[in-house]
Formats: sequence, C-alpha cells, structure tokens
Amino acid sequence: MTDVRPDAQRQHRRVFIRTYGCQMNVYDSDRMADLLRSLGYRLAESVEHADLAVLNTCHIREHASEKVYSELGRLRDVKQERHEAGRDLTIAVAGCVAQAEGEEIVRRQPAVDIVVGPQAYHRLPELLAEAERKAALKRAGKRLPGAGVLDTDFPAESKFDHLPTPHGVRAGSAFLSIQEGCDKFCTFCVVPYTRGAEYSRPAVHVLAEARALVAAGAIELTLLGQNVNAYHGEGPDGSTWSLARLITALAGIEGLARLRYTTSHPRDMDDDLIAAHRDVPQLMPYLHLPVQSGSDRLLAAMNRRHGRDLFLGLVDRLRAARPDLALSSDFIVGFPGESDADFDATMQLVDRVGFASAFSFKYSRRPGTPGSALPDQISESVKSARLAALQSLLAEQARAFNQSKVGQIVPVLFAETGRKPGQIVGKTPWLQSVHLDGSPRLIGRIAEVRVTAGHTNSLAGELAGLMRAEEAA
Ligand code: SAH
Ligand code: SF4
Ligand code: F3S
Repeated sequence: MTDVRPDAQRQHRRVFIRTYGCQMNVYDSDRMADLLRSLGYRLAESVEHADLAVLNTCHIREHASEKVYSELGRLRDVKQERHEAGRDLTIAVAGCVAQAEGEEIVRRQPAVDIVVGPQAYHRLPELLAEAERKAALKRAGKRLPGAGVLDTDFPAESKFDHLPTPHGVRAGSAFLSIQEGCDKFCTFCVVPYTRGAEYSRPAVHVLAEARALVAAGAIELTLLGQNVNAYHGEGPDGSTWSLARLITALAGIEGLARLRYTTSHPRDMDDDLIAAHRDVPQLMPYLHLPVQSGSDRLLAAMNRRHGRDLFLGLVDRLRAARPDLALSSDFIVGFPGESDADFDATMQLVDRVGFASAFSFKYSRRPGTPGSALPDQISESVKSARLAALQSLLAEQARAFNQSKVGQIVPVLFAETGRKPGQIVGKTPWLQSVHLDGSPRLIGRIAEVRVTAGHTNSLAGELAGLMRAEEAA
C-alpha cells in the first residue's frame, strides 16, 4: 500500500479537479480526490481557491483534446498572478491526453508541473513531492534539466490496490470501475493506447467496494469498463467470473436497488448476460450498446469484429429476455470511405431498432490510429449533413420513447435539484431524466412518479400516491 498518512505540511491545502470525457474519468477523479484527501487536501469549488489544479482529460476526439490546452492557458495565467503574490499553483494533467501526449503537454504548456496517465495516478503522492522539490530548486535559482514530472507508465501493479476506500456517495448513486483498458483496437479509437490492455478487477475487490459504497449510501451502482461486458475477473474460488456472475452476486447486497453497466461491446454480449436481464430484478432495463454503423463494409473497416446481423440478433434476444428494455447506442458518421449507401444502412438500422437515446459523432481523425491513415477521408460538409439527418431520426425516436411513458407510474431515483425553484430531477429505470416539483429531501431516494409529459431529452412528472402523502406530512 502507498503511504497516504496525512502530511502536516499539506493540511488545509485545496485541490480543484476538472473532469472531461467518460464516466471512467468521473470515477478516476473521485479516486484522485480520495487519495488527495488522505494527504490533507480539501476540495475547492474553483481554481481561484486551489493550491493544486488537476485536469482529468479526454483524448477521444480532437475537440476534446484541444479544450484541455485552452484551459491550461487559463491556468497558466492564474499561476502567474500567484507568483507575483508570492504563492504557487501546482498544475497536473491526468487522464487520456496525459497518456497520449506525455511530454508534448509540457512542451506546449511549460506551466504544467505534473503529467500522470490513467493507470499511474495512485502515485500522485510521490509525483507531488517530486514537483514540490523541483519548484523549491527553481525558487532557489537552480536551472533544471527539463521541466515537469511525468508518469505515463502502465505499471505492473494495479492502481486499484493502492487507492483508499471510496469516500462518500452523491445522491444515492455511484460508479464502480470493474474493468479497464481495451484489446479491440477499433481503427478510429485511441482508448487501447490511452488506457492500455484489458484488465478485470478480482470479484472480491469489486464486491468489497460495492459493499462500502452501499454502506456509504449508494442504492444504485453503475459498473464501469471500456468493455465492461468483457469482464473476466478472478472469482473468490479462483475460477473466472463473467459480468453476469458478478451482477448476480452484487444483486445479493442488501439495500442495493439498482444496477447498471456501461460500456458494452456487441461481441461480448454473452448468453448469460442476456439472461441476467431477465433474471436479476435489480438490473435496470436499459442497455448502452454502441454499434457505430449499420454497414457491414464500414463495420469491417472499423475493425468492429461483428456485422449488422449480429447486432440486430442481439437486440431481438435482449428484447425477448426483457421486453421493456430500452436501448441506447453510439454512432460515428463520416468514417473514411463511408458512401451514401453505407450511411443509408446506418439509417435503416436505426429505423429497425428504435433507440431510446443515442450519442452520435462526426468521425474525428486521431493521431496514431489506423483510421487516420486511410484514404478517402470524408469532407466536413458531408459529415455535417449526415450527422444532422441521423440526429433528427434519433431525436424523433427518443421523443417517441419518452412519450410512451406518459400516464405511467414509474420509480425515480432523485439526483439533484432542478434549475427552477422547487424542482427536483431524477432518473427512471430507463435512464430518462424526470423533472418535477418536490422536496430536496427526496434526493438520494426512490419515489413513484406519474409521468405527465415526454420531451426529446426529458420527462415531466408529479409525485404519485403514498410518497406525495408522506412528503406532505
Ligand atoms: N468502449 C466503447 C466506447 C468508447 S469511446 C465502445 O466500444 O463502444 C465512446 C464513443 O466515442 C465510441 O463509441 C464512438 O462512437 C466515439 N468515438 C471514438 N473514437 C472516435 C473518433 N475517432 N471519432 C468520432 N467518434 C469517436
Ligand atoms: Fe475503442 Fe473499440 Fe475499444 Fe470501444 S471497443 S474502447 S471503440 S477500441
Ligand atoms: Fe475519453 Fe479516455 Fe474516456 S479518451 S472517453 S476519457 S477512456
């Protein structure tokens, strides 16, 4: 275990963490916060009140990466102002841009003190100490060979074995990383390079963390992995556990009302996992299953390792197992070589499946991925036109799905207060956001709600029956 005893010198320091990208980064940011808390740091709401700023970054599309550099420019200005006032701001870049670009980050923005990859952040205590040592030498007028402290290793040890137990749970819901990394190498994607090889945490560790989260107030857990359904962790008896087996064991934890998992790959959607959607009541009737394209030709060029028929077959089997299952997906338009016919095949697949929600993106050329070197890159204007057509179809389907719930009474887990006074917002089992008037005391709890309206991105509702009476009491 890393020595994480509070350091008297670091008492009262504050850290500001900004998170970009996927839920895995949200989980990692929370773990970094836990680790820093054990060093005596407290969380700051803004960089203005912080001694340490951590940007936990995303490299998935060009736009995501570039945002980081503009934010770093802003942090450099804050750091400069601090220096003039005789104080310091330590700047750390974590996450997938850190992993992908390493030293390049410090070259582009010399104000950066620490660059730490997603598999090395358990070493933050040592990296901070090293950055402080360097800063002290600099203050003493010493010239240093190369600025910045870098750790973009994929260490042999697992970070999970070196992190403190999760601290606290927000509004009854928590993420739990169970699998990380990816061996699939889709030709558009940076994740296998930024997160490294596939790794599954042992089941006992996952179960222990889940129990700790439930004890801290979680009634919903979302299991995370870049390929979460490729999970194959060591079971307590030494055998290999599948995701279905893990879900079944987790469902036995008293007080845990809801289970979700994301993100899945169609190739790893095994029979036992489909059966879990039928057999495990805590497993929510919602599945995010990225397909990217409806064209077999494009799916092959993307190295997705499956065709259109495999995906459609899965959809049929999942719906047979759990008739009220809502499906969500990811789509990429404008992958190199995508013809009008290929794009039509995607539109047809969407039409055939009927998605409850979806994310869709223009293909972004990522350095180092095979897709970026392919001929026949698609023009920006074609990408834009295709994205608009796809998004309009997906929005229509989302609205239809949301409207299909109007008049029903559904359990909602309340997550936060809404923008309007007196409003609270929660999630249905199908991950729809519901807005309604209610007491903030409901946050972190599940209550029955009558759905009164369905929009493209959310529902409106009112508290139903008993809960209403209880609230009035
Ligand atoms: N592991 C998941 C998703 C990883 S990234 C999976 O296998 O599906 C999340 C989504 O970002 C992807 O599903 C894809 O739709 C999108 N994405 C990834 N790389 C991209 C790129 N280069 N350009 C545009 N979208 C991309
Ligand atoms: Fe990226 Fe493909 Fe791996 Fe998903 S399966 S993380 S899209 S390489
Ligand atoms: Fe982005 Fe890394 Fe997640 S590239 S999407 S933060 S795995």
